[in-house]
Amino acid sequence: MPERIFSLARRLRVDTMEIVDACQVLGIRTDRKLTTSLTAMKDSEVALIEEFFAKKRAEEAEAENTESVAPELQSEPANESVGLETSAQNVEEDEEDEDNGAETSVEAQNNDEESDEPETPNERVVEQPRVTPVDKEVEKPRASKRVRAKTTEPDEPLRDCEILIGVCGGIAAYKAVELTSLLVKAGAKPTVVMTEAATRLVAPRTFEAISNRPVATSMWSDNMAHPHIELARQAKIFCVAPTTANVMAKAACGLADDLMTSTILAFDGALIFAPAMNSVMWNKPATQRNRATLEADGATIVGPESGRLSCGEEGVGRMVEPNEILRAIEQAARELAKIA
Ligand SMILES: Cc1cc2nc3c(=O)[nH]c(=O)nc-3n(C[C@H](O)[C@H](O)[C@H](O)COP(=O)(O)O)c2cc1C
Repeated sequence: MPERIFSLARRLRVDTMEIVDACQVLGIRTDRKLTTSLTAMKDSEVALIEEFFAKKRAEEAEAENTESVAPELQSEPANESVGLETSAQNVEEDEEDEDNGAETSVEAQNNDEESDEPETPNERVVEQPRVTPVDKEVEKPRASKRVRAKTTEPDEPLRDCEILIGVCGGIAAYKAVELTSLLVKAGAKPTVVMTEAATRLVAPRTFEAISNRPVATSMWSDNMAHPHIELARQAKIFCVAPTTANVMAKAACGLADDLMTSTILAFDGALIFAPAMNSVMWNKPATQRNRATLEADGATIVGPESGRLSCGEEGVGRMVEPNEILRAIEQAARELAKIA
């Protein structure tokens, strides 16, 4: 079955950009918008990419083994001041990045304009609180690529980010209020869409007050001509929390008989579902098939988790906590920022 970059990246536990890089290395055509995380790839391309990462991992494991057997034979020791990478990686990546001024640590920034004096292994572990002319020749720590990649991510990935929050008719709808509040605190601009059933559990006015925006509840409101299309175009991330068994099923089938499901179908960005339901409902083969279909279509499914359910039972079906959903949304925002 064709797989999308988002789900392939998740399955291989790599970044979507690494998949895009791999496509370039492997000569997989990029004119089919492979840089779009939602683009599906052919099975043969997926197989090539899987093989690429398997080989890469084997090489990394081999490099690590070599290092642990005879560290003294390495051309440079591990960068203890950074401490996150093998020395082999540091040597290779530092050389590549020699001219890149985007150092990460305070020390590294202090040294951006410093001399090109070669460093000795011991120099890397010297503490460098301040740079003085005298100190210049002994210090030039270089941050590893991995550290740099982390720090180039936006500190506030959701700042000014338009996000759709879909609230379905599950008892966990009240937790969506907290999620909306967390998003607002994170600098995002959430617009809430509610199913009719959700409005019976939490008043739309609550979400309006938290998001400071109107809440969309009907396809037939006077405000928008094509509400589902306008909403879908408005954001790049759509998180449905809680997702009921009903909406999961409809979304998996591509049904569009209300504002929520029509907006899901019209939406072309990162879709996140946070299901919440009774554990029997969750474990039903039909629900599990729908979960698998949504995942295969590129959606992210967060949870559910195990615990006490509102119906009084214990089991899998609880919606994950708003903080965890927020992390999934942030992750999606970072991924989208990288491929933008
Ligand atoms: C108090 C109450 C709590 C409910 N909680 C859930 C739930 O957590 N998950 C779920 O899938 N359905 C739950 N339901 C059933 C849904 O509300 C019902 O399937 C409804 O049709 C869902 O509509 P929607 O998917 O359009 O929001 C609950 C119903 C009630 C009355």
